[in-house]
Amino acid sequence: MSTLVIDNVKTIKTLNNIAESGLKVFNKGNFAVDNDSENPDAIVVRSFNMHSLEFGSNLKAIARAGAGVNNIPVEKCTQQGIVVFNTPGANANAVKEMVLTCLMASSRNLFEGVAWTKTLEGEGDQVPKLVEAGKKQFVGKEIKGKTLGIIGLGAIGALVANDALDLDMDVIGFDPFISVDTAWNLSRNVQRAMTIDQLFAESDYITVHVPLTNDTKGMFNKESFSKMKPGVQILNFSRGELVNEVDMAVALEEGTVGRYITDFPNETVLKMKNTISIPHLGASTAESEENCAIMAARQVKDLLETGNIKNS
Ligand code: MLT
Repeated sequence: MSTLVIDNVKTIKTLNNIAESGLKVFNKGNFAVDNDSENPDAIVVRSFNMHSLEFGSNLKAIARAGAGVNNIPVEKCTQQGIVVFNTPGANANAVKEMVLTCLMASSRNLFEGVAWTKTLEGEGDQVPKLVEAGKKQFVGKEIKGKTLGIIGLGAIGALVANDALDLDMDVIGFDPFISVDTAWNLSRNVQRAMTIDQLFAESDYITVHVPLTNDTKGMFNKESFSKMKPGVQILNFSRGELVNEVDMAVALEEGTVGRYITDFPNETVLKMKNTISIPHLGASTAESEENCAIMAARQVKDLLETGNIKNS
């Protein structure tokens, strides 16, 4: 008697390195991770740009091990019935820690001070003398009592808000999409800006935590800068395209913006004195990579095994 063997192994392809702990999720169940597959059942991706890829007929899901999905052609996927996941909150703590690190380091002119110290040369007590003579140029400001404006009170924004309050900052938040309960339960004592212009007008520091969409693209521009406190410090750990870099260069030149701290280096402002460019390290921690990989893999596993779509 012959036995009918049904091959229902689901093939998973990964684009970019996905943390091992994420791949282990596929050890249980009928899965094969095959990065050479031309027609996988699901793809797990980090930052690989998928916009020019053609998708095979088996493809049922793409899971982005990260928050932003701008490297995935979401509309095309929807039309083809392919589910797109991201991993909301999985890297929020990593980004929050980076935002607060940069906020404090920037206020104390730490980036410039450390770079300057490396240029010093001398023997014996020459270096300490140069330090004493030159350190005045790096006198900083404390963040205590200053106002931090947070645009976007999702997973990252809410964490930043809570910790900024613990650092004795005044926090004002703006988020047109979040329910009052969610945002304001998460972020005790956050003052709610009724308009983004109110946040612009009151903030000494502004940090932005919104996705890149047609509405948010270029939201930091000549007009918005003109509504901000002169010398405001802006932190961008969301997406470079939120900022009109040409307008930013002018604002930095004129001092309208005192400092631009960005996780998305761009040649227009890269070399400017008051730009701090970071090579997209906001979510770059071992813990965050693991969290994102595990969440993405579980989403895919769930969908392929049970048909459940759970974006968490
Ligand atoms: C995100 O979208 O989650 C962050 O920008 C980090 C990343 O791109 O991996």
